[in-house]
Amino acid sequence: MNQLSKSAAGPDAAAASQAEVSAEIEAIAKAYEASGVEETQPRLDYPPYRSSILRHPTKAPYQADPELVELFAPVFGRSDVGALEADLTIQHHGAPIGERMVVTGRVVDGDGRPVRGQLVEIWQANAAGRYLHQRDQHPAPLDPGFTGMGRTLTDDEGGYRFTTIKPGPYPWKNHRNAWRPAHIHFSLFGTDFTQRMITQMYFPGDPLFALDPIYQSVVDQRARDRLVATYDHEVTQHEWCTGYRWDIVLTGGRRTPIDAEHAG
Ligand SMILES: [Fe+2]
Repeated sequence: MNQLSKSAAGPDAAAASQAEVSAEIEAIAKAYEASGVEETQPRLDYPPYRSSILRHPTKAPYQADPELVELFAPVFGRSDVGALEADLTIQHHGAPIGERMVVTGRVVDGDGRPVRGQLVEIWQANAAGRYLHQRDQHPAPLDPGFTGMGRTLTDDEGGYRFTTIKPGPYPWKNHRNAWRPAHIHFSLFGTDFTQRMITQMYFPGDPLFALDPIYQSVVDQRARDRLVATYDHEVTQHEWCTGYRWDIVLTGGRRTPIDAEHAG
């Protein structure tokens, strides 16, 4: 047994196994199926997602009428965001390691109308599944060619477009041998503060979906599907990169599920 696996068996030994967490996920899914009620957002109290137990709000949110300024702000102008900030592969001297790809789509409201000129920010792990962040110290390499943050403004059709590399899955400490499916974090302001949304985009067919309590905290399969991008060969570019498409709905019954971690 090497040093790494020894330490992994130490402090984590009392943590739940994947089998235990998967059994909890399955029991909740069965109860949801039997309930006949449609839930389109993540459960804030979702015990398989261990830290949600202490962190979720325990009281109903206070409903305040937004001040007028909150219905029109923030507003980002074209000059506030540079065109190159949407390309995460050109932020350093060398190209980052990994599968280069374009992620593009539209930001729309609940009626399908484009949400124009709005700030879309993303952050993500590198191809090895490591964040450039103090709290991410797991033994995967940092990439000197990749920081993992980008931003852009939606165009007149509500469209956004990022060039980046595909992030890797990474371990987290929810339970023993817990791994997150590959994902990109998105923050959207919409047209006003009351529409602000933080969510995660996933990639189709990820083998970790069934095992992941964050993805599964959205208990409805159709709602979960709205978090998964589609591979689009029309976006893929000859000899250059693969392409994915992901549309985001800010409001209404088909609203893109939010990230439970940022829901409180
Ligand atoms: Fe993440």
